[in-house]
Amino acid sequence: MPDRYAVIGNPVTHSKSPWIHAQFARATGEDIEYGRIEAPVDGFARAVEAFRAQGGRGLNVTLPFKGEAFRLCAATSDRAAAAQAVNTLVLDRGRPWGDNTDGVGLVRDLAVNLGRKLAGAHILLMGAGGAAQGVIGPLAQAGAAAIVIANRTVPRAQALAARVPRVKACGYEALAGRSFDLVVNATSAGLAGELPPLPAGLFRPGALAYEMVYGHVTPFMAMARAAGAQVSDGLGMLVEQAAESFLVWRGVRPQTASVLAALRAS
Ligand code: ATR
Repeated sequence: MPDRYAVIGNPVTHSKSPWIHAQFARATGEDIEYGRIEAPVDGFARAVEAFRAQGGRGLNVTLPFKGEAFRLCAATSDRAAAAQAVNTLVLDRGRPWGDNTDGVGLVRDLAVNLGRKLAGAHILLMGAGGAAQGVIGPLAQAGAAAIVIANRTVPRAQALAARVPRVKACGYEALAGRSFDLVVNATSAGLAGELPPLPAGLFRPGALAYEMVYGHVTPFMAMARAAGAQVSDGLGMLVEQAAESFLVWRGVRPQTASVLAALRAS
């Protein structure tokens, strides 16, 4: 019998995680089965318990349950505690234990797949919601010269920046006259076809514009391309966070390059 894992969220119909983990399992020879669970918005804890009671060993948690997953855990990793969100549940070591692999997934995509040097870089993180919270810790530990969090609602950016040493917060208008090597869009604006109100001149020569969502060209990606920046969507982060979850569960880190290439080609 293979060990059972799944992604849990609402919706999860279009999740690529089952396919990604099936490739990892095949490549590493790990005997796992990975499904998807669509939990009712008010039934997350029940769905986790039912899966665990049936022998489920671990879950990836996606929207809208990452905060609830954090609160459900008896204990978490430091990076999940910093994010106050859990995307990886371990269910086969006693009481539920939580981790968050989103931030390390972003940093690995930037550093390994996209070949970006984060040490000494000037970084702008847009947004202060769940997506930004999940990545700010590992991003801040990558040795940047400066990190600014910009958000429409400035107090949310200030609250997030206050949790991380040496990170500054501001609104979008305060970005006028500043420029960055890396601009990460962690807002949900792109999902609504919108663009945060960014001033011109944001991208330094050779800058990378990173959109955390994937699957379509967002207004941020289009604007950054027109401004001459290199542009990436968040597909690599998806694969890297999955690989890190696989490592947490199975103790082996799968290769990601061929999986990412196959996803890009499809
Ligand atoms: P989640 O936690 O699921 O990411 P969220 O907490 O609502 O969702 O966060 C969404 C983020 O996208 C926030 O930073 C939000 O800005 P506000 O905090 O000011 O609401 C940002 N966002 C959404 N639509 C936006 C838009 N059109 N322009 C700028 N920022 C936007």
